[in-house]
Amino acid sequence: MALRNIMTEEQATLHKVSRPVTKFDQKLHDLLDDMAETLEKANGAGLAAPQVGILRRVFLVDVGDEGVFEMINPEILETSGEQDDLEGCLSVPGKWGMVKRPNYVRVQAQDRFGEWYEVEAEGLLARCILHENDHLDGHLYTEKVHKWMSEEEIAAMYEEDEDE
Ligand code: NI
Repeated sequence: MALRNIMTEEQATLHKVSRPVTKFDQKLHDLLDDMAETLEKANGAGLAAPQVGILRRVFLVDVGDEGVFEMINPEILETSGEQDDLEGCLSVPGKWGMVKRPNYVRVQAQDRFGEWYEVEAEGLLARCILHENDHLDGHLYTEKVHKWMSEEEIAAMYEEDEDE
């Protein structure tokens, strides 16, 4: 396994549409393993292949207790509800903003061997899946931010949460 460089928002690759994966071969497995290592090192919640310069429909999400999901050629089947929460991106370092997204998502994707599976997710996991899926179409969360947040505002937000 090897770390890959994470591209930042000014790079054109991040604004292009990724192509479907057609070969579930060692090259794909190496990409997934490298992405997992890169994601862990960067301490992120998700990473899409275009972020490491590969324009293929592949992403990983890891929100902690639910394990790492490898999603290849994902298709969003259903969304519902709404959540409004803080979002960031490894390709947009040092920035955070509030983004509204559906609170629920049902998605189907292929695993690294090409087998289709389905996931139903809510809250943070749903948010991460939708954020990463946007990367595959060349979209960044920055397009959807309705309020940029300073470090002070973020700290205050989490203090409020603790008071509840
Ligand atoms: Ni991102």
